[in-house]
Amino acid sequence: MEFPKNFYWGAATSSYQVEGCNNNADWWQWEPRAGKEPSGDACRHYELYETDFDLVKGLNHNAHRLSIEWSRIEPQEGLFSDEAVNHYVKVIKALRARGIEPMVTLHHFTNPIWFAASGGWVNKRCISRFVRYCEFVVRALGTDVRYWFTINEPTVYFSHAYLWGMWPPQKRSFLQMMTVYRHLNEAHVKAYQRIHQIYQELNWKKPAVGIAHHMQAVAACDTRLVNRFAAALRAQLYNLQLLDYLARNKSLDFIGVNYYSRHLVHAHSWWIGDLLMETCKDNHHLLRTNSLGWGIYPEGLLQVLVSLKKYNVPVLISENGICTDDDNQRWEFIQSHLENVHLAIQQGVPVIGYLYWSLMDNFEWAYGFRPRFGLIEIDYKTAHRTVRESAKKFGEICKKNNLCVDRHL
Ligand code: FCB
Repeated sequence: MEFPKNFYWGAATSSYQVEGCNNNADWWQWEPRAGKEPSGDACRHYELYETDFDLVKGLNHNAHRLSIEWSRIEPQEGLFSDEAVNHYVKVIKALRARGIEPMVTLHHFTNPIWFAASGGWVNKRCISRFVRYCEFVVRALGTDVRYWFTINEPTVYFSHAYLWGMWPPQKRSFLQMMTVYRHLNEAHVKAYQRIHQIYQELNWKKPAVGIAHHMQAVAACDTRLVNRFAAALRAQLYNLQLLDYLARNKSLDFIGVNYYSRHLVHAHSWWIGDLLMETCKDNHHLLRTNSLGWGIYPEGLLQVLVSLKKYNVPVLISENGICTDDDNQRWEFIQSHLENVHLAIQQGVPVIGYLYWSLMDNFEWAYGFRPRFGLIEIDYKTAHRTVRESAKKFGEICKKNNLCVDRHL
């Protein structure tokens, strides 16, 4: 299965999950308070990035997604750290020097402590604060960066942090969640416009600015009308509503899709809570799972990708991956998902790249270090890196731009 010419192949990370010692971030403060495993030194990627990018190159990746840690760049309000920004300039140059296209996320779940302390994403000023930070970063890194993701998974962020109370600031408020939703949308649109203005002003080649959007394959667990209705409603609300807004505001040069799993709807009644949230707990639709219990559903990626056709912009798979202690399972996961990416391309979805989550094992937020998502294994005691077999096999696909499915698995 041949992939389009110039297809982007690579993996993704985020600063807080791999760098280590991000002690100006709200998560850092929250971990001990919530009794969570501390992120500590994480993978020490902040110091070992050159080594890691050598491995990336060895695995034939031609693209790499990483994020900038806002809390390093602006540790106090309005005070920008030259040291931090110079670090990221070097990081981006290190990728370019290896012929790897950097794809940069500006916000990946964490905030500076000062920002969180003054109301975070609920405070209306969040938008101008975020845009000011983006402007600073884009001016410093822009000559070497073409692809920007403004915000990673807004829907996951606002639901976990403001509705379910699972992530800092642990709010459980529908109203606050809606405010944050609105603010994140507006922040994206403003940042999108500002980034384009800067590139124009400085006469740089046009950038591509988008978002990384978490999408699940939504399915009804039986054919009852209420269930089909609930599934259609959720697909619209959870998957498409945000994109509709951003598309209406002409702020999507591409769509980044983060795809992991299926959402199986089982609404027992027409009550709004059931329609919006009830999922199937029965055993008759069982899937194999990753080590966190998320169902593995490769054909859902096709479903999700096809639903994006109407936006008529390039689609980049910005995250897709599995946490498992069985590396064969990882290889099977990659192949089966890539088969569906290929099918989507055949059906006319303009997919331009595939980034596996994650380049290396890392700090999986509230779950700590136990889940192993990496192409590269990390020994957290020594920071030693071991390239997994699945990574090597994926590296062959990247090199050949071609997937030859291994049916023996
Ligand atoms: C996504 C996040 C990423 C990682 C994966 C497993 O929702 O964007 O940081 O945690 O899930």
